[in-house]
Amino acid sequence: MSDLEQTLSIIKPDAVERNLENEIKTIFQKNGFKIKNEKKLKLEKSEAEQFYKVHETKPFYSDLCEYLSSGPVIVMILEKENAVKSNRDLMGATDPSKAEEGTLRKLFGKSIDKNSVHGSDSLENAQKEIDFFFKN
Ligand code: CMP
Repeated sequence: MSDLEQTLSIIKPDAVERNLENEIKTIFQKNGFKIKNEKKLKLEKSEAEQFYKVHETKPFYSDLCEYLSSGPVIVMILEKENAVKSNRDLMGATDPSKAEEGTLRKLFGKSIDKNSVHGSDSLENAQKEIDFFFKN
């Protein structure tokens, strides 16, 4: 038996810019995810820095935050059994050139930065990331 979980997904600026929002949402739905809540927004760089705080010591941190705040994103709460892992499997490897065929990043990603989608990496982070965007 597996548990119904929620995870946070972001359709990143490179994908929104290419009008891939509906195509990506359809893939999530075909893979059994329910979109429980969603919104389109543009982050300030300071908000992206807060969101990606776990990466603050990484050399790519500043560019990453610059990029995530460079244009509109779609943030979604996805629900499914084992949603966290299921979403990570569907997204594929962080670097699109290493992602498996059929994964979202293989299909749409341009580079390790412009990799089209973000997904929470654990149930604990999923809750934090959902709260970040959806808690009043
Ligand atoms: P994401 O899953 O949103 O989480 C952190 C992001 O950092 C990751 O996707 C990548 O887009 C980005 N990133 C940039 N460079 C690297 C790197 N060398 N290793 C891992 N992630 C990177």
